[in-house]
Amino acid sequence: MKALVYHGPGQRGWDTVEDPSIIDPTDAVVRIDTSTICGTDLHILKGDVPETTPGTILGHEAVGTVVEIGPSVSTVVPGDRVLMSCVSACGRCRYCKEGRYGQCLGGGGWIFGHLINGLQAEYARVPFADTSVYKVAPELTDEQVLFLADILPTSYEVGVLNGTVSPGDTVAIVGAGPIGLAAILTSKLFTPGRIIAIDLADSRLEGAKRFGADTVINNSREDAKAIVLELTDGLGADVSFEAVGMPATFELATELVRPGGHVANIGVHGHSATLHLETLWIRDITITTGLVDTFSIPQLMRLIASGRLDPSLFATHRFPLEDTMAAYDTFADAASTNALKVVLEGNDRGATGGARAEMLVAH
Ligand SMILES: NC(=O)c1ccc[n+]([C@@H]2O[C@H](COP(=O)([O-])OP(=O)(O)OC[C@H]3O[C@@H](n4cnc5c(N)ncnc54)[C@H](O)[C@@H]3O)[C@@H](O)[C@H]2O)c1
Ligand SMILES: [Zn+2]
Ligand SMILES: [Zn+2]
Repeated sequence: MKALVYHGPGQRGWDTVEDPSIIDPTDAVVRIDTSTICGTDLHILKGDVPETTPGTILGHEAVGTVVEIGPSVSTVVPGDRVLMSCVSACGRCRYCKEGRYGQCLGGGGWIFGHLINGLQAEYARVPFADTSVYKVAPELTDEQVLFLADILPTSYEVGVLNGTVSPGDTVAIVGAGPIGLAAILTSKLFTPGRIIAIDLADSRLEGAKRFGADTVINNSREDAKAIVLELTDGLGADVSFEAVGMPATFELATELVRPGGHVANIGVHGHSATLHLETLWIRDITITTGLVDTFSIPQLMRLIASGRLDPSLFATHRFPLEDTMAAYDTFADAASTNALKVVLEGNDRGATGGARAEMLVAH
């Protein structure tokens, strides 16, 4: 089969590799119908994620069709259309039993395209299939559910739920990339009073407006803290999200929040950031961090099915799966392409993905 293979910092290829097969009895093999690229894949390509070794197939977000199951898999069968989450769950360890799949002790967690071969490929081996994949109803298209693999649950769980967004709140979001935009969408589920998006790029702020931000601030030329204070009677936001992953943006997120407010860090940090306890201690601030667990996928999928959550704005570009190399170029050059998420479409997928299951069973 063909797959996008990481060959060490700065190097990737669309290579012919061995077809995946069942290794553990809890595995499934899935044909990838629709996949996408994450900013984290770019971090891996820069060499920022040393645990990912050269030769690893990248990708941790996809929708596909089960083609083979291991002997102990009992809840999916060949032909089922499934969403694969960026986080796998052994289902048996202490953390999995608490729904904290990101912290799985039994071999799950973020493994796809990180510690094992990932999902930017024609086929993938999917460990712990019973506890890690989500069946997709025929009325939902692949593209409607694809962003449930990572960005929507990340922003919802690590941002909105950790930050306890409540009706009427002022929510300030630092960073308006896919994660910041998903934070706008999922904050709206709680009817905040005002959503403020802050970014250095005007194109990203335009996106934030389309996703539902009420106020946008370009902090390359505007004073974000002054504007947020002005909009909140001098208090600050009820909740702020850090959705960039840099020391300066974390510090900014802590400056924007009101006494008694919540700072939810979503960004992945590679460097230490300063926690200004000398100013924060007296302000009753709660700061949370987190790796996504994706426990909210079923809940968010129901909201998409009922039309109350619409992720369609994320897909800015579409490529055939075999053009994954070109898709990376487009995604990595977001400043000029305005890419948010690029959708990679496999050859055999149907128009909506709905009818393919039958085809495969017959196969
Ligand atoms: N916690 C988790 O489980 C989890 C999961 C997925 C992604 N993430 C992280 O979330 C973060 C955001 O992801 P993304 O895909 O949206 O990234 P992205 O790089 O596409 O977007 C980041 C945005 O931040 C803006 N930005 C950069 N510096 C800024 C500054 N000083 N002030 C304001 N804005 C600034 C950029 O213009 C860009 O629009 C990343 O760190 C990513 O690794 C975390
Ligand atoms: Zn990701
Ligand atoms: Zn586990």
